[in-house]
Amino acid sequence: MEAHPSLLILLLLSCFATASYAEHNDHTEHNVHLSALNQSLIVSTSSTPGQVLKAGVDQVTITWSYNQSFPAGTDTNYTTVEAMLCYAPVSQTGRDDRKTDDNLDNDKTCPLVITEAPYKRSNNSFVWTIPRDTPTATYFVRVYAVYNEHEKGYGESTDALKTTSLFQVDGIVSEEKVSGAWSMVGNSFGYGYAWLLMLFLLYI
Ligand SMILES: *[C@@H]1O[C@H](CO)[C@@H](O)[C@H](O)[C@H]1NC(C)=O
Ligand SMILES: *[C@@H]1O[C@H](CO)[C@@H](O)[C@H](O)[C@H]1NC(C)=O
Ligand SMILES: *[C@@H]1O[C@H](CO)[C@@H](O)[C@H](O)[C@H]1NC(C)=O
Ligand SMILES: *[C@@H]1O[C@H](CO)[C@@H](O)[C@H](O)[C@H]1NC(C)=O
Repeated sequence: MEAHPSLLILLLLSCFATASYAEHNDHTEHNVHLSALNQSLIVSTSSTPGQVLKAGVDQVTITWSYNQSFPAGTDTNYTTVEAMLCYAPVSQTGRDDRKTDDNLDNDKTCPLVITEAPYKRSNNSFVWTIPRDTPTATYFVRVYAVYNEHEKGYGESTDALKTTSLFQVDGIVSEEKVSGAWSMVGNSFGYGYAWLLMLFLLYI
């Protein structure tokens, strides 16, 4: 089988483009500390406390807005928001791969980007279907306000101790199998590898 050289270049290029996009999502290597951010967003989820949501089936609505009692101008530089799915402390104990770190480069509290959107002060909501491969665990949602690829502010759907308004996900796949697949997706080059695999398959 013959593939046109330009097709090959296109595939390679798209591989790198996707890889660098994923890297941004992973907040790699930019030395931002959560404690240095303004907790300027108010975040909530539609789940009732302790609700169990079925992965691949159930939905949760995430809403967020700017906390207007912050000093005027705090949000002038916010351009986008990123909503993240985050492990509650009860699902972090004994799990180094879910460990909280104030430096967001090393923080493993929030394994998944739920959605990204342009920043708006109010009336933000997103209806999210829990992905099928979500590990069984207890979660909350954190939303970052981002400027120039750096987090500037955030808000969480729970209290400071992360004990209120949590929700549970009942995963369909066993937890062990998922942690492998999950880290593959979390890997900055996961999508890149997928493209390379496709390229390889095209040639055999
Ligand atoms: C909004 O910010 C003020 C000032 O920091 C704080 O006292 C208040 O608790 C915040 N409101 C919410 C709902 O988080
Ligand atoms: C917004 O960005 C400008 C330019 O980088 C900076 O001078 C200013 O301090 C920023 N404002 C806030 C509130 O972060
Ligand atoms: C937090 O808000 C204050 C007051 O508006 C501002 O001076 C500061 O630059 C903000 N911090 C970040 C990380 O944006
Ligand atoms: C938010 O939504 C409400 C009801 O739909 C509307 O009345 C209000 O003007 C909206 N506010 C903004 C800032 O868009």
